[in-house]
Amino acid sequence: MKHLLNRLVDFLLLPIKFVASPRIRRIIREDWCIRREGRAGYHTRLAKEVAASCGKDLYVGYESQFMGEVHFGNNCNFNGMRVIGGGKVTFGDNFHSGEECMIVTQNHNYNNGEAIPYDSTFEYKEVVIEENVWFGNRVIVVGNITIGEGAIIAAGAVVTKDVPKCAIVGGNPAKVIKFRDIEHYEKLKAEGKFH
Ligand SMILES: CC(C)(COP(=O)(O)OP(=O)(O)OC[C@H]1O[C@@H](n2cnc3c(N)ncnc32)[C@H](O)[C@@H]1OP(=O)(O)O)[C@@H](O)C(=O)NCCC(=O)NCCS
Repeated sequence: MKHLLNRLVDFLLLPIKFVASPRIRRIIREDWCIRREGRAGYHTRLAKEVAASCGKDLYVGYESQFMGEVHFGNNCNFNGMRVIGGGKVTFGDNFHSGEECMIVTQNHNYNNGEAIPYDSTFEYKEVVIEENVWFGNRVIVVGNITIGEGAIIAAGAVVTKDVPKCAIVGGNPAKVIKFRDIEHYEKLKAEGKFH
């Protein structure tokens, strides 16, 4: 009888336990903020809060995560970006990216550390993305990388080396596929025509 009673009390307490759990409270709070500010408004505000510096007109349309020291230029646009690690990332003006992109700015110490597969120390990386760069969906960037202005990173590319100005790169590891029409690019840039 006592056992049954305990089970009944547990059952009746279930909704309270559910709402009291930190994870559920976070989901409810997030949902409330999104309803109040709109999805882009909410994600953009979060990104501004964690940024080391932020230019004008930042837009973060979907859930994104920005760890480490992140600098946003003017008119940066994200649709699902994760910057993971304690390194530094600079997004130049007029950056645009697709869904499920990732920039990794730290590595575990696997080579001369005190444990296998790695110890508890990190090696930090810096990623510099110059102005007017476009990332397609599912781009991954790892290592100390500079992506030149006007470059396009194809969907699914894994960028492990520097990318020249106006290059279109793709594949794993990413290689130059071709270049933008640089003359046309310079003309639009001089006229200040940015999306
Ligand atoms: C990079 C991209 C812009 C190139 O488009 P495009 O100029 O029309 O290129 P093409 O289709 O003519 O392909 C040119 C070459 O690049 C290769 N290529 C195209 N996309 C590629 C990719 N994602 N990865 C690897 N190689 C790719 C093609 O196979 C082709 O190779 P080939 O010359 O040996 O035949 C486009 O393929 C892309 O990835 N766009 C991103 C789309 C996206 O993610 N949008 C949503 C987010 S905003």
